[in-house]
Amino acid sequence: MKIFLDTAIVTDIEDRMPTGIIKGVTTNPTLIRRSGEDPDVVYEEIINAGITDLSIEVKGDDAETLVANGILYNSKYGDKATIKLPCTVEGIKACKTLSILKIKTNMTLIFSVSQAILCALAGATYVSPFVGRLDQIGEDGIGLISQIATTFCIHDCKTQILAASLRSAQSAADAYEAGAHICTVPVEVFDDMSTHVLTDKGLAQ
Ligand code: G3P
Repeated sequence: MKIFLDTAIVTDIEDRMPTGIIKGVTTNPTLIRRSGEDPDVVYEEIINAGITDLSIEVKGDDAETLVANGILYNSKYGDKATIKLPCTVEGIKACKTLSILKIKTNMTLIFSVSQAILCALAGATYVSPFVGRLDQIGEDGIGLISQIATTFCIHDCKTQILAASLRSAQSAADAYEAGAHICTVPVEVFDDMSTHVLTDKGLAQ
């Protein structure tokens, strides 16, 4: 069981690193844009903050470009870079190639068990099912984690489930219970996970 932070704000990562429990960071183009920084500067700073597993989303309309960009980040950061790819046909092709090259991959935007299966068959290190976005359209995000976990367990699959789009402390706890190996959470959710109203009340007493 591991926890990652889902952010591109380096100071937010640095502030929470002393807990000693953060094992990785996931980023995406939206988070990078919100940080207002150049992507390559952000990646460098996150690695310098001591993160040893950083998901870096690569751009490209075809598998060849995705692979080439993935190789670039791998040559720069080695095993600390996990190449984040979309769950599309081109993304799956790129995942297969990178897995043959022993480069770590995080297949993102997973919304079904069948997508997770294909990514696992392509040798993905992680699959990232988006819990919150499924819940938002009236589907069952935690149910999806559970279905993927059962399927991977039956087939003794090495691909790990990295639950993403987690918007509350409870949904992170539920994702672990459903079988997620890793939860990536925004810093607000990370902070909420350590607090409880009765803990505060107990301290006050
Ligand atoms: O890791 C993916 C995550 O950043 C997406 O979260 O809340 O935009 O669905 P959200």
